[in-house]
Amino acid sequence: MKLLEEKIRQEGQVIGTDILKVDMFLNHQIDVNLLDEMGKEFYRLFKDKGINKILTVESSGIAIAVMAAKYFNVPVVFAKKSSHKNVGNELYSAHSHSFTHGKDYEMIVSKKYLSPDDNILFIDDFLAGGNAAFSVLDILKQSGANLVGIGIAIEKGFQDGGKKIREMGIELQSLAIVEEMDEVEGINFRNAEC
Ligand code: G4P
Repeated sequence: MKLLEEKIRQEGQVIGTDILKVDMFLNHQIDVNLLDEMGKEFYRLFKDKGINKILTVESSGIAIAVMAAKYFNVPVVFAKKSSHKNVGNELYSAHSHSFTHGKDYEMIVSKKYLSPDDNILFIDDFLAGGNAAFSVLDILKQSGANLVGIGIAIEKGFQDGGKKIREMGIELQSLAIVEEMDEVEGINFRNAEC
């Protein structure tokens, strides 16, 4: 998505060769008009798939998911992150690890909000190694809900999460895929839109 790629080039901050800081429009301050365009683009990509619910993970996924949900006219459910291992019977849960933040956590969703009748679009801000996405897949499996596809704002194409998910036959649409990046050389996008 050209608009997002331009924004990343203008305002993104590359740290080393593998962290992209986008606090100024996505992870801390939010550019509402940009996120609205992203929501609209996810709608364009998935509108014919019978989606009745959007699932995301707190916290940064929520804003994007909400924007998309306005176009789909469906509710958003966000998975919560808990530090407690003992999560109880009312919840679906999956263990997860964030490499970027170096933390383990339990991803949890109430059983009230996912069922086998659901056709789910999973939306998140970043896809790196895919840990969060695989925990979401685990939770969806427990619930019997059907995963229709995955929409990601920024995929780090040099990490293997995207490759693994596509190899599973899951429809994965990323609005910007960073092929490589460097503090000096800048950012190269896969299939950059001109
Ligand atoms: P993975 O889930 O794809 O394996 O990624 P990883 O464990 O490395 O990432 C954990 C968290 O860090 C996720 O956010 C992910 O969105 C974020 N992240 C990964 N790479 C980058 C990056 O280059 N830049 C930024 N800004 N974030 C990155 P999270 O823990 O869910 O945090 P949040 O949603 O509360 O912000």
